[in-house]
This record gives sequence, C-alpha cells and structure tokens, in this order.
Amino acid sequence: METTWEALEEKCRDCRACPLCETRTNVVFGAGNRNAKLMFVGEAPGETEDLSGIPFVGRAGKLFDKYLEAVDIPRDSVYIANMLKCRPPKNRDPLPQEQDLCVGYLRNQVKLIQPRLIVCLGRISAMRLIKPDFKITKEHGIWYDKGAYRMCAVYHPSLLLRDPRKKEDMLVDMKAVKRELDALD
Ligand code: URA
Repeated sequence: METTWEALEEKCRDCRACPLCETRTNVVFGAGNRNAKLMFVGEAPGETEDLSGIPFVGRAGKLFDKYLEAVDIPRDSVYIANMLKCRPPKNRDPLPQEQDLCVGYLRNQVKLIQPRLIVCLGRISAMRLIKPDFKITKEHGIWYDKGAYRMCAVYHPSLLLRDPRKKEDMLVDMKAVKRELDALD
C-alpha cells in the first residue's frame, strides 16, 4: 500500500507484473478528482485509452460522458479508473491472473480517495468488487453496502453501443447514482 499518489502512480507506470506491459503504449492509471465522493470503475483500457493514457475517451467513453452530462455530474468532479491499467490485446476480457496482479493498484486508489460511492461500469468490475456471481442484467442499479462504501453496478457503455435497448435502464440507473450522491451528508 502506497500512501502518496506520486508513489502509487510511479509504481503503476513502471509495472511489469504481467505480459500486458509488453504490448501497452501507456499505462492508463486513472483520472479525475482525487477527493471525489463518487468513483467509477471500468474494465480495462481500449485502443484510444492505451494511446492517450486516459480512461474512457474512446467511443464508449464519449457515450459515458453523455450520461454524466444528462444527470448533471461533471466528469472532473468524479474519479474514473479501470480494473486493469493496461490494454488487453484486441480488447479481450481481462484474465483472472491479470486482475489478481492489477487489482491492488485499484484498491490503493480507493484507499487514497476514500469515496463514499463506487459505481462499477459493467460486470467484470462488479464481479470482482461486489460479488463473484454478480449478474449485471438482474442486479444493475442495486446498491450494496460494503464497509465504508456504497456500491452498485451499471451497464458498461460498450454494451450499450452493442445493445441500445439497454440505454433506458442506464439512464434510470445513472439518475439513481446522482440521487445517492446528492443525498450524501
Ligand atoms: N472501457 C473500459 O472499461 N475502460 C476504458 O477506459 C475504456 C473502455
């Protein structure tokens, strides 16, 4: 556990714990407000993120921005990170070993930020952070109390690009996220 952002970011940028370090262009560490009450956790960087070093800036990221805007949550008020900090080849799902080796960076980020709410984007981070048998279709938008944090999962924006019928549910869930945020003391 690193106690400063500088130490954590340096360790993460130099990481060679798994083979993804061989194919990455940039480590996508995370971005946003380090004092955020609300944190979003995606899956892994895609091509645009790998090239820029910034999470959620490709097609899925642009769609996610629209939801943030629709529910009046400024992107720079929240912190956005991924389960994996390096892009898996051809955007395949992160392997369990990759997650095991990488999740410590995310946990360290959570410890430094101490958000009140953590929203998983998609099933991969929900299965890791909420519960292993998380079913995104049934359990999206449901809040779970996990120690110091309240957590929920919403659909991953990439899934919404493939299945636009889920967009209505996403808006409902994102409105609920905004309500939780506004209700914090
Ligand atoms: N998908 C993710 O899960 N994370 C990103 O940063 C981009 C796309």
